[in-house]
Amino acid sequence: MSNVHVINHPLIQHKLTYIRNKETGTKEFRELVDEVATLMAYEITRDMPLKDIEIETPLVKTKAKVLAGKKIGIVPILRAGIGMVEGILNLMPAAKVGHIGLYRDPKTLKPVEYYVKLPNDVSERNFIVVDPMLATGGSAVEAIHALKKRGAFSIKFMCLVAAPEGVTALKEAHPDVDIYIAGLDEKLDDHGYILPGLGDAGDRLFGTK
Ligand code: PRP
Ligand code: URA
Repeated sequence: MSNVHVINHPLIQHKLTYIRNKETGTKEFRELVDEVATLMAYEITRDMPLKDIEIETPLVKTKAKVLAGKKIGIVPILRAGIGMVEGILNLMPAAKVGHIGLYRDPKTLKPVEYYVKLPNDVSERNFIVVDPMLATGGSAVEAIHALKKRGAFSIKFMCLVAAPEGVTALKEAHPDVDIYIAGLDEKLDDHGYILPGLGDAGDRLFGTK
């Protein structure tokens, strides 16, 4: 079954409060999402395997550690996931970035896929799927399904805010996928918005309404 990690780091919690606040404007919202993505990426990569290599310091030959695992792929769910990509790339600049375009039909709340573009060595990468919001879970479930259908089998999911309903749906659909959350919220409202949440992540990031 999926492991669910709520990342309670004080810096993340502090910044998330400002992200939630409706008084926070687009510029600051974008900057904060970027910063939280970097901090979360630090936590999500804790289990990356290392190997020893031999190097020479200015004084002696020595063994030292470098990353040993598979290469990384970052996959934002469009639109709002885009806001988290640069923050992760700050720590892993060589990662490749795929894109999965989904929008939630406002009536049915079901995800509608409109775009998929991934690196061509999908099966050789560890993927981090990112989206600020895990609400009903439909978008994350569908995006991860699209990724697996194309050969990915090592996937983590990272979001800022999640509703319990979305966590349950994602765990049931993809028990092999670990979930990383900055804020686990109370519930969904009648329109599928997370409460207390942060509003519409895409609109707040890109200044649309
Ligand atoms: C938002 C959000 C997620 C989805 C979460 O995107 O960024 O992708 O809703 O909801 P779910 O868990 O119920 O599927 P939205 O559909 O508003 O599209 P947008 O990013 O293009 O604005
Ligand atoms: N999508 C959002 O952007 N916000 C929510 O609260 C739920 C889905």
